[in-house]
This record gives sequence, structure tokens and C-alpha cells, in this order.
Amino acid sequence: DLPRDLAGRRVVVSAGGTREALDPVRFLGNRSSGLQGYALARTAAARGARVTLVAANVALPDPAGIGVVAVESAEDMRKAVLEAAQGPGGAADAVVMAAAVADFRPAGYRNSKIKKEPGAGPAPIALVQNPDILAELAARPRGGQVVVGFAAETDDVLANGRAKLARKGCDLLVVNRVGADLTFGRPDNEAVILAADGAAPTEVPRGAKEALADVVWDLVAARLAPPGGS
Ligand code: C5P
Repeated sequence: DLPRDLAGRRVVVSAGGTREALDPVRFLGNRSSGLQGYALARTAAARGARVTLVAANVALPDPAGIGVVAVESAEDMRKAVLEAAQGPGGAADAVVMAAAVADFRPAGYRNSKIKKEPGAGPAPIALVQNPDILAELAARPRGGQVVVGFAAETDDVLANGRAKLARKGCDLLVVNRVGADLTFGRPDNEAVILAADGAAPTEVPRGAKEALADVVWDLVAARLAPPGGS
């Protein structure tokens, strides 16, 4: 039986991967499927939470009973996540940024399709940095709101994860080992979860993304203020 330990709680989960438009037909994107974010949303709902799922470019059906906000770019996602984290009815208890947010976007959007100039070489694409939504969420005055980030690392997973946890300022960081075929679009995942409060890292062995999601919610639940508190 599932614990209903998130009953009365409101959580925000981001999922998928942002697309940064170059022109009306092209974008810069990434390989995130949204499966881990959707698993987080479903497991939170199963444990009693009210869930807002901010989904970027995901080809998955809306999970039952979960409010889905569809976004495209990092800027769209920033707006939707901050709004949901703030909430009309008070701040969310937790925000989990499982989405792959593009670090950069094209410096300029072209209103008409970019043409290939006969004989000319490829045109360079100038990029500018996107806002870091996770760092911004973590840096706001947020009461007891628990903020969780994800990090995909190919090597030096622990050292890079620790550095990222400190840089982002979030409470928990789920560090995935990624490679060509390790995580993206697969139903399973493995991770080590780092905590800013000095708790020992939590190793989550390879298993269903739902199982990793439940460990994330265990760690979040342990860090929530008592219900009804402010
Ligand atoms: O810096 P990096 O992209 O590795 O960080 C990954 C974590 O930060 C994820 O939780 C992702 O959702 C979040 N992120 C963000 N805004 C960005 C880039 C990443 O919120 N612009």
C-alpha cells in the first residue's frame, strides 16, 4: 500500500525538454522524453499530493487527475514554473525540476524561415544564456518549500553533482549517469541523490523511473514542514 504522506500538499513538477526556436520551423532541442517527470507527477498524486505538471514538448498522455501546463521554451517554462510554485492559493510545498531546460537559446528569432545561400558557407548561430529556473527558485525567499533539481552527468558524477548542488542552491539534487543509451527515453533509471543538509547520499539502483520517483518523494516528505505549519 502506498503511503498517503503527501495528502494536503501541493507540488510542482517540470518534465520534458525545452525547444528554443530559431525560426518558424526550426528549434534547438534535446532528447528528454519526459518519462521521469511524468513518473514523479504520477507517484506524487498517488501519495495524495495535488500536482501541477509543467510539460515541455512531451509525447505522453496527460496523467489522470493532474493539471498539465504545456510549454515550449525555457522562457515559457520559467514563467509557468514560477507561477505554479507561487500559486494562487499559497506557495507549493515542493518543486521538482526534472525537465531538461536548454542552457542557451538562439540570440535572435527570425520571423521567416532562414534560407540557405547558394555558395555561401553555413551561417553561425549566435546563442545567449537562458535564465536558470532552478537556481532562481532556490534563491527566492521560499518559506519551507523544498526545491529539487536533476543533473545529468557523464563522468565524475559525485564531484560534479556536489558542485552543482552548491551552485544551484537547491535542497536535493538527483544525479543521473547519462550516456547514449543509459537514460533518455528508457523506462528505467539509476541515480545518486545528494542533499544540501549534509545527509548521506542516497544511491538508487537501476530500476523503474517510478521507483526513483518514490525515493525522491520519500526524501522530500522527510524535509517538509509539519502540515498546517507556515
Ligand atoms: O545546469 P544543468 O542544466 O545541468 O542543471 C540541471 C538542473 O537545472 C535541472 O533540474 C534543470 O531542470 C534545471 N535547469 C533550470 N534552468 C536552466 C537549466 C537547468 O531550471 N536554464
